[in-house]
Amino acid sequence: MSGHATFDLPEFPWDRLTPLGDKARAHPGGIVDLSIGTPVDPVPEIIQKALASASDSPGYPPTAGIPAVQKAMRDWSIKNLHAPDDVGVLPSIGSKEMVTLLPFLLRAKRVLYPDIAYPSYHVGAVMAGAEAIPVAEDPKSWPAADFAWINSPSNPTGALMSDQAMLEAIAWARANDAYLVSDECYLELGWEETPRSVLSFKEAAEAKVIALHSLSKRSNLAGYRAGFAVGNPSVISELLEIRKHVGMMMPGPVQVAMIAALADSDHVSAQRAIYLRRRSELHRGLTAAGFTIHNSVAGLYLWATRDEECWKSAEWLAGHGILVAPGDFYGVRGKNFVRAALTATDERIDAAVARLTATA
Ligand SMILES: Cc1ncc(COP(=O)(O)O)c(C=O)c1O
Repeated sequence: MSGHATFDLPEFPWDRLTPLGDKARAHPGGIVDLSIGTPVDPVPEIIQKALASASDSPGYPPTAGIPAVQKAMRDWSIKNLHAPDDVGVLPSIGSKEMVTLLPFLLRAKRVLYPDIAYPSYHVGAVMAGAEAIPVAEDPKSWPAADFAWINSPSNPTGALMSDQAMLEAIAWARANDAYLVSDECYLELGWEETPRSVLSFKEAAEAKVIALHSLSKRSNLAGYRAGFAVGNPSVISELLEIRKHVGMMMPGPVQVAMIAALADSDHVSAQRAIYLRRRSELHRGLTAAGFTIHNSVAGLYLWATRDEECWKSAEWLAGHGILVAPGDFYGVRGKNFVRAALTATDERIDAAVARLTATA
């Protein structure tokens, strides 16, 4: 624990990785950074142009989003998530910000999150002063609470929730009159299986279910901080009412960029093809170096193990100039795994694969 004056927050995970980063940077061929998973490919031109076209933006942007961005989010969600026609939508500054603030905004008291997960679910619960409860995959085993996270495709494992588990999570939300929030930021990155939105289940409309989406990965927009919440119209209106007081409005030019990004699927297909190649190369390299890849059927990472403690694997990889995330960042169940992101240039991925295969 960091001993922070106000919140009992864990040490920021990436700070713990600094020594391994130094070690990887010392490699004569340079570092291949597969740790954080930050996009490295350019922002598609149509999106850059849309942003620039809206740069004269003196006034406050509406919290609910301008009508054209509301339409873009709704149309995209109906088409791609198979959400119902009356679905509610709300733009958000990134989605990390929504993840960490949502339990506070909705005054949650007990927050469930997967026992192997993106660390911000835990952080958001702690900051809201709520009880933070890691839970197993099977919603039938979940205790009573007023808020639960699901995340499919999962960061870090790349696993998908089964239809059965999604339905059980929705049934749990109904039975507990709880919020069920589905973090779907990797939905468009399915490789061996096709991810499905919680909003595609008609049962979701009868519960307090919303999904969070992000343009960071599908459109290389992590630097724009563009995301949105979508789902049950009364939950979305409740959030809008609170957010009107709080602020956190998405900047006007980013709203215009988001309209262009959501209207175009060509750049998403092109980016998927880039990641698919990197994924198969990295899979080959890690396997040659004695790692076994688990899950990883979707999403932006390979979840790999050599049946040894994660820091030992991470240390060995750093010795070859390759920086990955130790699996214990995501929960104790990850202690024998490392997470390798697909977000390095082709040149860097090829360098990593050459080093890994040379160790075989
Ligand atoms: C599961 C998950 N949710 C949310 C986010 C936040 O992404 P962003 O704030 O870029 O939308 C991430 C980022 O890595 C993530 O892995």
